[in-house]
Amino acid sequence: MRVLAFSDLHVDYPANRHRIHALSDVAFRDDALLVAGDVTDDLGLLEDTLGALRAKFARVFYVPGNHELWDRRRQHHDALQRFERILALAGALGVECAPARLVGERGAVWIVPLFSWYRRPAEGKSSLFLPKRSEHADQRWADDRLVRWPQMHVRPADHFLALNEPSIRAYLDPVISFSHFLPRRELMFNAGARPASLPDPHPGFNFSRVAGCSLLDTQIRRLGARVHVYGHQHRNRDTTIDGVRYVSHCMGYPREREGGYLQREAAAPVCVWRDREPLPDAAA
Ligand SMILES: [Fe+2]
Ligand SMILES: [Fe+2]
Repeated sequence: MRVLAFSDLHVDYPANRHRIHALSDVAFRDDALLVAGDVTDDLGLLEDTLGALRAKFARVFYVPGNHELWDRRRQHHDALQRFERILALAGALGVECAPARLVGERGAVWIVPLFSWYRRPAEGKSSLFLPKRSEHADQRWADDRLVRWPQMHVRPADHFLALNEPSIRAYLDPVISFSHFLPRRELMFNAGARPASLPDPHPGFNFSRVAGCSLLDTQIRRLGARVHVYGHQHRNRDTTIDGVRYVSHCMGYPREREGGYLQREAAAPVCVWRDREPLPDAAA
């Protein structure tokens, strides 16, 4: 058994949809797939995509991204109603959104899905905000228009962190966690990390305002996760920070692929664990 990671499938684009359906029907039959959000806001297409993946992989794990909570088709569901509908849709397909132990030939591993949202700069130190000189004062962000939060006593990020709490415990086998949003600032590609040959596609927009939340990393550390898979920025990387390997493997938008912005092409999912090789010791 292998564990493979994928995210930001954005199957509203026919080219992306085609890539999913073109994945082998036989190569992944023993494997588990982690889908770290942003499949689509169209629930019919979400069902079709998760169903197709479920037919190709032995196990499919999933957390929704921000796009899934968009009410673009004016179905008049608030974001939390949509979230519940999506979990029910996934459950009916046999797609898993809760911790599970996978047993391979030579070892076991726990998969722990973590729900998440971002914290804005005004929402405290756990926002991943970094100043950006060129940003405009009136940045437009689609979530502000398309995600309708109900009356809530806590911020969205805290709501989802609280949902994870029952899953945060000591596991006796290695843990692989995954979330849609970023858990650390170091994982963002900012102006300094971008290859000099590529211009900033959105100089007026500061992604760090809506990137993630560092309290998510606190949960990852409490889990003792060896590997954490995330999505959202559409800038792929595989890097180890303080003993945790962070992997982002977003399919992204066709225009981003054509522009070379993804850093690493993601036509198919990437392997993050296989049961024939032990994970590197986090303490080493
Ligand atoms: Fe995305
Ligand atoms: Fe996203």
